[in-house]
Amino acid sequence: MASIMVERSGRVALLTLNRPKALNALNLAVMQEAVAALTDLDRDPSVGAIVITGSEKAFAAGADIKEMAPKTFADVFLEDWFAAWDQLAHLRTPTIAAVSGYALGGGCELAMLCDILIASDTAKFGQPEIKLGVIPGIGGSQRLTRAVGKAKAMDLCLTGRFMDVDEAERAGLVSRVVPVDQLRDVALEVAKTIADMSLPIAMMAKEAVNRSFETTLSEGVRFERRVFHSTFATDDQKEGMAAFIEKRKPVFSHR
Ligand code: HXC
Repeated sequence: MASIMVERSGRVALLTLNRPKALNALNLAVMQEAVAALTDLDRDPSVGAIVITGSEKAFAAGADIKEMAPKTFADVFLEDWFAAWDQLAHLRTPTIAAVSGYALGGGCELAMLCDILIASDTAKFGQPEIKLGVIPGIGGSQRLTRAVGKAKAMDLCLTGRFMDVDEAERAGLVSRVVPVDQLRDVALEVAKTIADMSLPIAMMAKEAVNRSFETTLSEGVRFERRVFHSTFATDDQKEGMAAFIEKRKPVFSHR
């Protein structure tokens, strides 16, 4: 059985982690299949947004502890264990994590690698690696801290406790909270809204927001201004503004 499933609906792609019995623990197969599928979807201009989801009980309960347990330092160092997940930080197509149930360790890190995090009212987030004698390894100590600040990031990383969805929303980790039975539909609807926008402009907006994590304010604003200017080189800027003036919906060519 494949570790992931990919479905398409118009310009939206849905990737579902598919190891429900292991609470979608992220083993090597999941990583390889998910990263390959997402990289392919990212290269396909007919895909305007990607939703990543899991099961109702677990988005993903972390890296696969059974697979990791016997590894030595040399194994994980030489294999650069889990570095492939870093490729998801370079996807240009907008991504949405639709999280129900557990998003722990690598699962929380995978959700944080997405651009928008929509959670069900059952979602639970945590970086419990410390309870296993390790620390986060797919960016959790960095992205969680940027998302929720030092106070909560330290609390979660040092105690290993889980955060419920209300706390996660208050802390700024989550964009929207929805009832669990509506999660998939809401995430797909948000994805469709984004996919109907101009793809290059959506990519530029994503790149500009992401730049804020990597640079100073003045450099970030300079980057934004240059990209803003370049939007005027697109057909979609002409269409978007013409549609507003003509009081109709824009039909973007995605170019
Ligand atoms: C492997 C896992 C797993 C995991 C759950 N399972 N999480 N297998 N790796 N991360 C398996 C269990 O072994 C069990 O299989 C089945 O899924 C159901 O889990 P239960 O524990 O029976 O369910 P429940 O009692 O409901 O508890 C749910 C849970 C608990 C609270 C989420 O499973 C849990 O604490 N899981 C580990 C969470 C964690 O520590 N994640 C961080 C991993 S480290 P069997 O076959 O026994 O029925 C990490 C590092 C990232 O992510 C960085 C690496 C570089």
